[in-house]
Amino acid sequence: MSLHGLLSVTMGVPDVAATAAYYADFGLTPEEDNWFATADGGRQLHIVPTGTRRLVEMRVAADDADDLGRTAASLERLGVVAELGEAALDTTEPVTGMRVRVEIAPRLAQDTVPATPYNGPGRIDRPAVRAPGFLREHPVRPRKLGHAVFGSTDHEASASFFADGLGFKVSDRIKGAGAFLRCSTDHHNVLVLGAPVSFLHHTSWQVDDIDDVGRGAFAMLDGNPERHVWGLGRHYAGSNFFWYLKDPAGNFSEYYSDMDCILDDQLWTPEDLEGARGLYAWGPPPPPSFLHPDDLAAMMTGAHVAS
Ligand SMILES: [Fe+2]
Repeated sequence: MSLHGLLSVTMGVPDVAATAAYYADFGLTPEEDNWFATADGGRQLHIVPTGTRRLVEMRVAADDADDLGRTAASLERLGVVAELGEAALDTTEPVTGMRVRVEIAPRLAQDTVPATPYNGPGRIDRPAVRAPGFLREHPVRPRKLGHAVFGSTDHEASASFFADGLGFKVSDRIKGAGAFLRCSTDHHNVLVLGAPVSFLHHTSWQVDDIDDVGRGAFAMLDGNPERHVWGLGRHYAGSNFFWYLKDPAGNFSEYYSDMDCILDDQLWTPEDLEGARGLYAWGPPPPPSFLHPDDLAAMMTGAHVAS
């Protein structure tokens, strides 16, 4: 029938132990072999050793063997090599060298979390009690992996691989600089950004609401203020609330809530976003290191390639 979600990402970093400890703090549940699980999506992050930080692999969910066959044919038309098995198709993103596996998997059915009561003009949804968002005592635990964002030295070729090859839909474009792509009803599961070097920009993790975006970031920053990157704000593309933090390897990780969902492709009009809209709708100004991470130059020269 179709692609329906992002199953997992594999992140390569020089120091697996330090990065693993960070994602445990972030609220992912450590499992064996440096796999990490979300509350609803199961194992969705794998951390492996590499010389420089990068996105090693992405797994995408498909409904059935027909989807794999269609994807194999589309990749062949693009001249991209793929290996078609009974339950999965393996290929490689041609610009960055990232492995991509499309595999048959059940659709993720998330339990409905009741809407958080927020008061508004003429609307008292929370009479005589404090806001529940900050009375919660449990640590924030992301529900699922939302998206992965990577830099590509040829963003148009990378976007074409996902859209024309794998069958992702284009939700919006950043004019001349990138594309938001989806393989589910979420506004984006992949964002390809033009960059002078291939690198993992960020992974993004769904939490219940804006209070959990704030609560999660607040807990991460307690005693570790250097983890702060950018937030709290709201994106234009996808509409989601966001707060970005930085792991010890230099990858950003985002808590998000309230992303646009596209149930009917015909009812969504992609836009070419220009200027600040490509980045956000409101929030503090993004730090220069958000678009150009501090280690970009070092990654370009391979200055800290360890293996
Ligand atoms: Fe994001």
